[in-house]
Amino acid sequence: MRSYFKGKDFLTLMDFRRDEIEYIIDVALEFKRLFGVRAPHEFLKGRVIGLLFEKPSTRTRVSFMAAASHLGATPIQLNPNVMQLSRGEPIKDTARVLDRYLDALVIRTFGQEIVEEYADWMVRPVINALTDLTHPMQGLADLMTIWEYKGRRRRIKLGYVGDIWNVCHSLMIVSSMFGYEMYIARPKGYEADKRILEYVDDMSKRSGANIVFTEDVEEAFKDADVVYANTWHSMGGPEAEKDKRLRDWSGYQANEDNTVVAKDDFIFMHCLPGYRGEEMSDGIIEGSHSVVFDQAENRMHTEKAVLALVVE
Ligand code: CP
Ligand code: NVA
Repeated sequence: MRSYFKGKDFLTLMDFRRDEIEYIIDVALEFKRLFGVRAPHEFLKGRVIGLLFEKPSTRTRVSFMAAASHLGATPIQLNPNVMQLSRGEPIKDTARVLDRYLDALVIRTFGQEIVEEYADWMVRPVINALTDLTHPMQGLADLMTIWEYKGRRRRIKLGYVGDIWNVCHSLMIVSSMFGYEMYIARPKGYEADKRILEYVDDMSKRSGANIVFTEDVEEAFKDADVVYANTWHSMGGPEAEKDKRLRDWSGYQANEDNTVVAKDDFIFMHCLPGYRGEEMSDGIIEGSHSVVFDQAENRMHTEKAVLALVVE
């Protein structure tokens, strides 16, 4: 598949322009159609995709493995605990070695600087499968899902409740790019990363987006096209302070009662894994507004588009 993205890293959505994001999602929509009719799309026959995950994963791991397999590539899981990384081999050595074997490296890790370090030492593309800062693959699938359900790509209001972390940051990035309103409900003291805020402020001025933080969940959900929930205690640092977060975030939940203020045809989204009784009720994820499993499916189609476009 020809593409001017060949060889490009995919570390954050901030590295891409709005028209590029639209193009990637158009490719994903076409892959979804091909998958639906079981038409072969083996654009990466003979390629090898490494998956290095330093945090747990169900969706990202399996959707990348399926996506690579459908493209005719071989996905290989790299368990960091059995690699020499676990005995202190530096990233710069590991990266240069992996670069000799793989056609792309997909990484889930902690700091954004870790994926950047791999990318610095590798010629082959490095794809961010979640860091503390961003979750670009989730952002792509979320946009695709919103566009499919809403039938439009502009004039969207999102009401978000949950950790101000990777998923929230990626939604802030795309919302600012596409001129959306995004209301983020959270207890005071939980704020977005400065790098993201700087990008979002600048981008919003150009796109007309409005990204608002509030302590009022109903204000966030009022007239929303999309109600989006995410865990209160993300993997890594936030998880270590789970007890405090369960207290601080109590009440910051999407449920059947407080979403009556959203638009009648709102969709309920969640990146998953989700925690019933915390950031969402059982009724809302199981209810008629919920699109969470279509959203999860779209992870595979968008990742397939990214692989097909960046892997040489
Ligand atoms: N949404 C998401 O990234 O899920 P996993 O942690 O299961 O990959
Ligand atoms: N914010 C969550 C997303 C999981 C997909 C986390 O980092 O744990």
